[in-house]
Amino acid sequence: MNRRRRIYDGKAKILYEGPEPGTIIQHFKDDATAFNAKKHEIIDGKGVLNNRISEFIFQSLNEIGLPTHFIRRLNMREQLVRQVEIIPLEVVVRNIAAGSLAKRLGMEEGRRLPRPIIEFYYKKDELDDPMVTEDHILAFGWASFQELEDITSLAFRINDFLTGLFRGVGILLVDFKIETGRIWEDDESHVVLADEISPDSCRLWDAKTQDKLDKDRFRRDMGGLIEAYSEVARRLGILLDNDTASFGDSGPQLVPDPETTHDPRGNSVGRKPE
Ligand code: TMP
Repeated sequence: MNRRRRIYDGKAKILYEGPEPGTIIQHFKDDATAFNAKKHEIIDGKGVLNNRISEFIFQSLNEIGLPTHFIRRLNMREQLVRQVEIIPLEVVVRNIAAGSLAKRLGMEEGRRLPRPIIEFYYKKDELDDPMVTEDHILAFGWASFQELEDITSLAFRINDFLTGLFRGVGILLVDFKIETGRIWEDDESHVVLADEISPDSCRLWDAKTQDKLDKDRFRRDMGGLIEAYSEVARRLGILLDNDTASFGDSGPQLVPDPETTHDPRGNSVGRKPE
């Protein structure tokens, strides 16, 4: 049996040592958490959908020349990525007022912002990821001035690309969160997009009905999370059109992956993680 070394067990993902130096296997779990994991549930099939949606987005970003850690998807729950030194920031870009911005500034959810706004949060669970300024980031050395410029420009370019991508399939990109990392080559490092981009880390609203197609369905106890994520996957062409959004024992019918043999729950056959 193939035993792999587990490097990190996170809220929604596990990282394993990759097959070659400088690579990592990123495994998407079915765990949904909110409010720094105070709320937690297992939602059957979420990991499979996020793996495919995030693959689609990262691959598209690679294709337009934006640097990401993504190498290739390995199976229904896992992808091979480049090992990076994670920069301890959660970077949020917002187009429409919602969530913590709406709350903090007393704004009605749904109001279009005058222009996209970027925010930085210090990645520190013990502190509930507090919002920080660029000055904090520079003063405490979490990123250099050049890195902060690169992160900001990457975040806005991703926003432009994703806004168009989702707009084309009738979805409003309200806001999203990204994480970035450093890749070292000789003595120099550059910033790449890391982690994932999925309905767990974005707010996505149906453009016509304003229906929520993202993790707010879980955060706000609305139900229908798998149906919503399936709808996003279907519109992006990842999920077969004729699949019912219902998520029975057999799991969602994803567009078949010719390279991988997998069981219906999305675990790769003969290659259990632990
Ligand atoms: P917020 O409005 O709660 O600050 O969230 C902004 C965006 O960031 C939203 O798309 C959800 C995403 N997000 C995460 O991915 N992880 C988090 O821990 C939080 C708080 C937000």
